[in-house]
Amino acid sequence: MDLKRQAALHALQYVHSGNIIGLGSGSTMTLFIEELGALLKSGELSDIVAVPTSEETAEQARQAGVKLSTLDEYERLDIAIDGADEVDNNLNLVKGLGRALLREKVVATHADEFVIIVDNTKLVTRLGERGPLPIEVVSFAVDSQIRWLTELGCVAELWLSENGSAMLTDNGNPLVRCWFEDGIDNPEYLASLIKCRVGIVEHGLFLDMATKVIVAHETGITEMESAA
Ligand code: 5RP
Repeated sequence: MDLKRQAALHALQYVHSGNIIGLGSGSTMTLFIEELGALLKSGELSDIVAVPTSEETAEQARQAGVKLSTLDEYERLDIAIDGADEVDNNLNLVKGLGRALLREKVVATHADEFVIIVDNTKLVTRLGERGPLPIEVVSFAVDSQIRWLTELGCVAELWLSENGSAMLTDNGNPLVRCWFEDGIDNPEYLASLIKCRVGIVEHGLFLDMATKVIVAHETGITEMESAA
């Protein structure tokens, strides 16, 4: 079975009937939602309410028969499940290559548990070594943000879709992708700098947020737990 699906199936043991859950975005989450729908259909799970992190996830959840709600209605979520683009040994993550990083971060901060499901290709020793760090910016003065980000020691560029137009998030904002040649030296410091920059909406560094990471390997599943 596909490794992403194995991780998704494993995570379902942490979802219980009556839970209010956050649903992340991306291909691993597509599989999780499919499997969640199957358990709801068979009656093994019931009374699940989910807060989706993207329009795509919302549509997939609707199709799977998952009841949807919002953070306006539910202040706390029992658990949020999500994928990731990179995971380091300290459970720090790069997320957002599915363009949903802002809503994913908001949902994660409302959840008692934040459980990440990945296959082992996402494991890194240094964040940023596998791919770019996505950053959501306002559309006003994008080039100024790109110049500023470049000065932080990366190659930054506007993320374009195949037709050459700026890739937009569900919030209507463009994204900048930042490549760090040898990975990100000090993710905490970088995150603190980016967070203070006016015009940057959010970045894809999810530091000290995941409570559990479920990793599917060819040889089986492993779990990484946060110390807290
Ligand atoms: C979306 C995300 C995804 O979790 C991340 O891109 C991983 O996606 P996939 O499961 O398709 O590998 O952060 O914004």
